[in-house]
Amino acid sequence: MRKIVIAGNWKMHKNQAESLKFVQAFKSKTENTDESREIILCAPFTSLTVMSKNLHGSRVMLGAQNIHWEIEGAYTGEISGEMLTEIGVNYVIVGHSERRQYFGETDETVNLRLKRAQEYRMKPILCVGETKSQRDAGETENIIINQLKQDLVGIDQNNLIIAYEPIWAIGTGDTCESTEANRVIGIIRQQLDNKNVTIQYGGSVKPGNIDEIMSQAEIDGVLVGGASLEAADFARIVNYQ
Ligand code: PGA
Repeated sequence: MRKIVIAGNWKMHKNQAESLKFVQAFKSKTENTDESREIILCAPFTSLTVMSKNLHGSRVMLGAQNIHWEIEGAYTGEISGEMLTEIGVNYVIVGHSERRQYFGETDETVNLRLKRAQEYRMKPILCVGETKSQRDAGETENIIINQLKQDLVGIDQNNLIIAYEPIWAIGTGDTCESTEANRVIGIIRQQLDNKNVTIQYGGSVKPGNIDEIMSQAEIDGVLVGGASLEAADFARIVNYQ
């Protein structure tokens, strides 16, 4: 059985007070959410403690946006698995295209981060996806197959979520056609040893397109940026029909 997972990625948004306000408004909106749906909020590091305390006993799980591959050490600006699990973080985004694009993340470091997350029993959300020019050149399938091949070396596919995020669809309002996202996710699934891995779609998901996206057979959830910042919008997404 494939699990449905809806995750919000707040990126570099919300201080502690704003995070707390969101949680207070959002929690009650998920009380009647279908039991089969897992709900995750991937918040900035500075908000994780206050959120962990205030999400206790709710349906909503906590995720981080990065994890370093070493246990500890001289890695200024990085965060360790122990620091995250101590707070109660159970999920972590790894290899987001913004990390790959702006912070020099490579498939090799993505692989190392995935391994460390799993060692700490956190479930990583691995992001893969192609740029606009790669898509236009007809390279989408090759790019993604290649990313998976490198990122998943030695990774336990029983403790993994994958997000297909076409880079041209992130934060642009330019959603990938749901049938096309479904097709690419089907290709991703073919590459996996475990066919039951949850595979999400991400890129301009919003209240207006969630029902259609989730009606696609291969799509097991969504990773949501902009539309996860407002409690009402994200609640509508989590409670898709
Ligand atoms: P978006 O971001 O929903 O704002 O397009 C998605 C993501 O980056 O995960």
